[in-house]
Amino acid sequence: MIKACVIGYPIKHSRSPLIHNHWLRELGIHGSYERREVPPNALEDFLTHLPVEGLVGCNVTLPHKETACRYIAHLDDRARLTGSINTVYLRQGETWATSTDGEGFAENILWRMPGYRFGGNTATVLGAGGSSRAIIDELLRRGMRQIFLANRTMEKAEAIAGVFGRDVVPLPLSDLDTCFPETNLLVNTTSAGIANDARLHVPFARLHKGAIVADVNYVPLITPFLCDAQACGYPVVTGLGMLLHQAVTGFSLWFGQRPKVTEDLHTMIARDINPGYQP
Ligand code: ATR
Repeated sequence: MIKACVIGYPIKHSRSPLIHNHWLRELGIHGSYERREVPPNALEDFLTHLPVEGLVGCNVTLPHKETACRYIAHLDDRARLTGSINTVYLRQGETWATSTDGEGFAENILWRMPGYRFGGNTATVLGAGGSSRAIIDELLRRGMRQIFLANRTMEKAEAIAGVFGRDVVPLPLSDLDTCFPETNLLVNTTSAGIANDARLHVPFARLHKGAIVADVNYVPLITPFLCDAQACGYPVVTGLGMLLHQAVTGFSLWFGQRPKVTEDLHTMIARDINPGYQP
């Protein structure tokens, strides 16, 4: 029996077990994937003992994505650059970790908008936390020409731009008018309206008419931000597909087969979030 898990604190809301156990069943693999609640003071112990715990690896979620880096023997270049991890795996008995959030984001855009090309285009990313860094890193790897990074706290946007260089331009959230006419991919990574009652004031009327609008949040499936974008006529990409796509690489590292993200899987998880969901 091959065993993996997801660790976080709290962890009971994680939908990762639904995703991985669906793929294990579908591919006929004798494996298991469960939730493990690991409080911050037990994180080091858990990760350093992973090789002797009978686990092949784990996903790492809030609040451990950044602190977990300290307790991993080898970080890949994505993990080092973004300073955060979501996937831990073993090689020759030692722990390795990566971040698959950026890849999950980009693959989800291509899943929903198959004709979209990252190369040579301009994106605007709202928010300057861990997801923002992972997405910016991935967009640059895929040839995005320019990325405007808008955040309420300018210092955080400036710090990220400093890591990635001249192709990332920091600006205040109040300045979206200036970059919107050339933006053809707009991404919300802020928790405004999700973790609090705030609503982002986004000047959609100024946004390039051919733009795609995406959100990394997926509860509710259509976030207030996506609702506003739809009302202005833009095609939207929800965050749930990113959750599904970020899980693919972890599954293949642990269980040895690359699973597929399907509409059936999407519907199953969407119904777990919103029981009335209709595809
Ligand atoms: P992540 O999950 O990506 O790591 P995070 O580190 O919690 O996210 O960051 C949340 C982001 O949402 C931040 O960019 C935060 O802005 P600040 O850097 O100014 O704190 C942003 N955010 C949260 N509430 C917001 C609000 N009401 N208006 C604007 N931005 C908000």
